[in-house]
Amino acid sequence: MTSFNRSLVLGLVLLVLGADEVAWSQSAQADDTASGKRVYISVGCFTCHGRSGQGGSFNYPVPALARTALPVEAFNAIVRTGPNDMPAYPASVLSDKDLADIRAFLRSLPGRRPAEDFPLLNQ
Ligand code: HEC
Repeated sequence: MTSFNRSLVLGLVLLVLGADEVAWSQSAQADDTASGKRVYISVGCFTCHGRSGQGGSFNYPVPALARTALPVEAFNAIVRTGPNDMPAYPASVLSDKDLADIRAFLRSLPGRRPAEDFPLLNQ
């Protein structure tokens, strides 16, 4: 095999492996999001924050979580400690993996649409 052919074969192998890596990470992400949605519903976050993370009310307005921009450390600390009227979710009731999946789910949500998207609001 000439060195050109060897490089070509090596290049093709790397290309295939690389493509596989991308496909794998995309499906892993979709799995995390689907699992996050299940956990978000099953542990009850939705009762206060809404099924689409749109926010809601408890003893006072509950913040929206769709597309949360909170850094992962802050997000995790809030869920683990439960500030004010939010219950705490220690690792004994919510694993680190489930918490990460919930965040992946929330970040995948579309969130609020701007008022310009609604013809009725623009007359
Ligand atoms: C009983 C109602 C209730 C439930 C259930 C609940 N939360 Fe909350 N959550 C709140 C309230 C109220 C706040 C606002 C706390 C404050 O700052 O006073 C809050 C705040 C938050 C915040 C901070 C948002 C921000 O932008 O400040 C995050 C993140 C959060 N909750 C995630 C979760 C997750 C994830 C779950 C499920 C594991 C959950 N919450 C379950 C009531 C709830």
